[in-house]
Amino acid sequence: MLDPKYRERSESLFNRAEKHIPGGVNSPVRAFKSVGGNPIFFKGAKGAYVHDEDGNRYVDYINSWGPMILGHGHEEVIAAVQEQAGRAMSFGAPTELEIELAETICEMTGIDMVRMVNSGTEACMSAIRLARGYTGRNKIIKFEGCYHGHADSFLIKAGSGASTLGVPNSPGVTEGVANDTLTAPFNDLTAVEKLIAENQDQIAAIITEPVAGNMGCIPPNEGYMEGLRALCDQHGIVFIMDEVMTGFRLAPGGAQERLGVKADLVCYGKVIGGGMPVGAFGGKREIFQHIAPTGPVYQAGTLSGNPLAVVSGLTTLRYLKNHPEVYAQIDAATEKIENGLRPIVDESGLKYRINRLGSMISVHFCDTDVYDYTTAAEGNNERFKQFFHGMLNEGVYLPPSAFETWFISMAIGDEQIKETLAAAKKVIAEMS
Ligand SMILES: Cc1ncc(COP(=O)(O)O)c(C=O)c1O
Repeated sequence: MLDPKYRERSESLFNRAEKHIPGGVNSPVRAFKSVGGNPIFFKGAKGAYVHDEDGNRYVDYINSWGPMILGHGHEEVIAAVQEQAGRAMSFGAPTELEIELAETICEMTGIDMVRMVNSGTEACMSAIRLARGYTGRNKIIKFEGCYHGHADSFLIKAGSGASTLGVPNSPGVTEGVANDTLTAPFNDLTAVEKLIAENQDQIAAIITEPVAGNMGCIPPNEGYMEGLRALCDQHGIVFIMDEVMTGFRLAPGGAQERLGVKADLVCYGKVIGGGMPVGAFGGKREIFQHIAPTGPVYQAGTLSGNPLAVVSGLTTLRYLKNHPEVYAQIDAATEKIENGLRPIVDESGLKYRINRLGSMISVHFCDTDVYDYTTAAEGNNERFKQFFHGMLNEGVYLPPSAFETWFISMAIGDEQIKETLAAAKKVIAEMS
């Protein structure tokens, strides 16, 4: 158990941060809103651990929300970034490094072409524009509980049932934009068929997380991705897989490879930058011919393909390409965590579900299977809060929301798993 005064400096930094940074954070999920309390401020990280401003050490299951798949401070990545920093930080002009990164991405994922951007949001937003420009249609279908970044088109919540008109769930998103975003429950092909029937020849794209990670981890049901692929083929709809979480994590070729289903356009982020602000969208050459400067669909970025970001991503991807055993290792580590947690929670009598695919895992305190947003929302958040804070006090840093997947890095080994399960045993016993 950490010292009860373990957050003194974090608390004072948070008070200072609130004065000039909205809510004290630069991205809302960091703010601990759904679990209560104030965020912890960090100053260092190495391997499987992060270190906070009060000198506490935590096993890290957030890993910057996915990017740090090699663990923190990986020597090859750090050396490559340092070397590049000494050479040049930015040109705003082409470099050979960008070609090497594009070649590596295309080789690993099997896509034809790729454009680098600065975040997952930019990747998804640009993919949608390209799909609209390519098809000449306006509407898109997204799934309830899937997150594709904060561009207007994606901040839409479903109305009751499979409503044909989206309702914006953030002020500032116009009704016009919302009306072009149709929503369906994840894992529900019938709802998608209905939306397509009601909006004949109007749907430009279906965008989905292939394995949802933004309502906890929710794998696709058997045949679901294949079904979406078939519907897109049948109706001339561009099939976009948002692989911002799953890309280079579930396999070298991401979910496309792991699930054996190919998309027309794919969005990347997180792992692709190895910890630097990087995103990318790519896909079929035929569609990519339509993007500027080759085609009329405009998309651009001052710092896109920035050399520092590119070397960080390139070194990370090359490491994964040359060490494919990493995938078996992180999957096995995550399986050990799942298999270790189950008897602990079983013994407590608490109702729970654990969802896992590869190195993505989440625990829901509920008594129903979790396969879409509605079932994820049935989880007992009070229980999750207790679990989260209990684990934090024991030095295990989990995502501060039941609606987030945990990300396992290759630095998490038997020692950290033992530490995690010992913490869970204590915390769960106190909860029951
Ligand atoms: C599946 C998915 N798509 C898109 C995004 C947006 O990425 P970014 O936060 O880099 O803009 C996220 C972020 O968590 C995500 O999980």
